Amino acid sequence: MKVVTTNSELETIELGKKIGNIFKGRHVVFLLDGDLAAGKTTLTKGIAKGLGITDVIKSPTFTIMKEYENDEAKLYHLDLYRLIDIGLDFDLEEYVFDKDSFVVIEWPYQVVDLLPDNYILVKIEGNLNNRTFKFSSPNEMYEKEINEI
Ligand SMILES: Nc1ncnc2c1ncn2[C@@H]1O[C@H](COP(=O)(O)OP(=O)(O)O)[C@@H](O)[C@H]1O
Ligand SMILES: [Mg+2]
Repeated sequence: MKVVTTNSELETIELGKKIGNIFKGRHVVFLLDGDLAAGKTTLTKGIAKGLGITDVIKSPTFTIMKEYENDEAKLYHLDLYRLIDIGLDFDLEEYVFDKDSFVVIEWPYQVVDLLPDNYILVKIEGNLNNRTFKFSSPNEMYEKEINEI
């Protein structure tokens, strides 16, 4: 496990940028586990920057999924907070098995068991401006990358 603490929104964006850089051009699924306002979307904004995506990243709470793409990268940003209302009636596989994509899933609890184990889990906790990000994976394949974060 890797633990990183940030002390501002900007530092979290920088952290996300680093993650985007590390995984640029590769397929990976990040599960973001944290309360409302923990910093999940903020981290995703940084990831997009690291991937070279210049679009404004907004929380897709009311659409479940937003897709961002440029010449080098594709980002699927899912927010499953409202999945209880909507049900699992959407094509999760289309995103998590898209080998060209970086996938971020906020509120992933209801789909974790449906995913292959090659994901990276990020547990976010904190208060005020302090946030702790704990990175882990059930699969050893990301050990090196997690240490680089
Ligand atoms: N260290 C920090 N990292 C990220 N966000 C922070 C931090 N400190 C304060 N904040 C604030 O917390 C909120 C996080 O919002 P957001 O990223 O949308 O959370 P979530 O997507 O988890 O609901 C923002 O209002 C941001 O300004
Ligand atoms: Mg959010």
